[in-house]
Amino acid sequence: MKKEKECIGIVGAGAMGSGIAQIAAQSGHSVVLVDQNDSALQKSEDALASVANRLVAKDRWTMEFSHEVQRSITRTTDWNQLAPCTWVIEAIVEDLDVKTEVFQKLETLVDSKAILASNTSSLSLTAIAGQLSHPERFVGLHFFNPAPLMALVEVIPALQTEPSLVKRAKLQMEAWGKTPVVAKDTPGFIVNRVARPFYGEALRIVEEGLASPQTVDAAMKASGFRMGPFELMDLIGNDVNYAVTQSVFEAFYYDPRYRPSLIQKQHVDAGWLGRKSGKGYYLYETSPIETDAVETEAFGWISERIIALLINEAADAFYLNIATAADLDTAMTRGVNYPKGLLAWANERGIGPTLKVLEGLQELYGEDRYRPSILLKRMAVNQEAFQLDATNA
Ligand code: NAI
Repeated sequence: MKKEKECIGIVGAGAMGSGIAQIAAQSGHSVVLVDQNDSALQKSEDALASVANRLVAKDRWTMEFSHEVQRSITRTTDWNQLAPCTWVIEAIVEDLDVKTEVFQKLETLVDSKAILASNTSSLSLTAIAGQLSHPERFVGLHFFNPAPLMALVEVIPALQTEPSLVKRAKLQMEAWGKTPVVAKDTPGFIVNRVARPFYGEALRIVEEGLASPQTVDAAMKASGFRMGPFELMDLIGNDVNYAVTQSVFEAFYYDPRYRPSLIQKQHVDAGWLGRKSGKGYYLYETSPIETDAVETEAFGWISERIIALLINEAADAFYLNIATAADLDTAMTRGVNYPKGLLAWANERGIGPTLKVLEGLQELYGEDRYRPSILLKRMAVNQEAFQLDATNA
């Protein structure tokens, strides 16, 4: 007898929900994709058809597999079809009240043992769980965009989550070909917290008139990053990047380390959102990215400064038990394609020299923004390095 496929429910058929539905379908599940909006469902169906055609043309999928994947997804506005699902992953609008309402509704629809998960990138899982009747079966599963291509998934237990669910969620993500890391439910989780200085310090350097966006981008690319901070902000969308920075800043009770930049706000106000609006830090309408006017002699101090702040953030996240050292490094290399894990990079550069850069900045500016992590200070004194093997981390 043929075994019945496990049903996975997805709520929200936008960019993320559609991508997660594809991942579940290509992993052999039957998928129920719910949206309140018929046109979003149609768009999602068309998008998958065109991805599937591309993959078949490239011989990555057979025609049969392509049909199977597309057939496995039922798209509907009828929430009752979620009833047989053993997992339901929510990927709707980033709004705490709306998400909470959706989970309360899901609790009345699915089996009491079904797992409920949110793909939120910035909201508190604990706050959502606090409004549920069975918060122990609720967990965060933070995929990255585009979900079918990005390996990383942050698994985030709420305070109320049953501990064994973390392992179950990791196994499920591995079965879907993903690389799961576990993050504590704190603002920005791992990636969106640790990456803040990549943007924030780059903006600060430009704000002070010390270098142009082109020079900062070229400096970071010379250090091994695939894209410079300004190119990346233009790709993400300056509005989206600004909103994440603002939410992390507020959630950390206005810690100056995460303060948003006026330059970025002005770009948002002007509608210079990046690629999607044709103009951001670069012009996209007429010409490709300009690469002239780069001051190569500034590369050294620019990358020193930004990388030291990134390492500081990763060290602090480790110190505050946001994740293991190994997961912190995996998150940055697999989630945002950093050339190296930041803690491995700290070991390579030396904790002492990294600390020196931070102390120099703190002395120069006298700002709390540059305060070095207490962990780096201790490690420098004791001449320690980060232990990065997964068992020891
Ligand atoms: P989107 O705007 O592309 O799609 C959201 C979909 O949810 C829309 O189709 C909308 O019709 C539907 N929707 C909204 N409220 C609903 C409701 N009450 N019931 C049913 N459907 C509803 O958004 P996107 O970009 O896919 O993001 C979804 C979630 O994933 C958000 O929580 C976001 O923070 C998170 N996320 C987004 C990433 C990104 O880069 N876009 C990356 C990682 C997480």
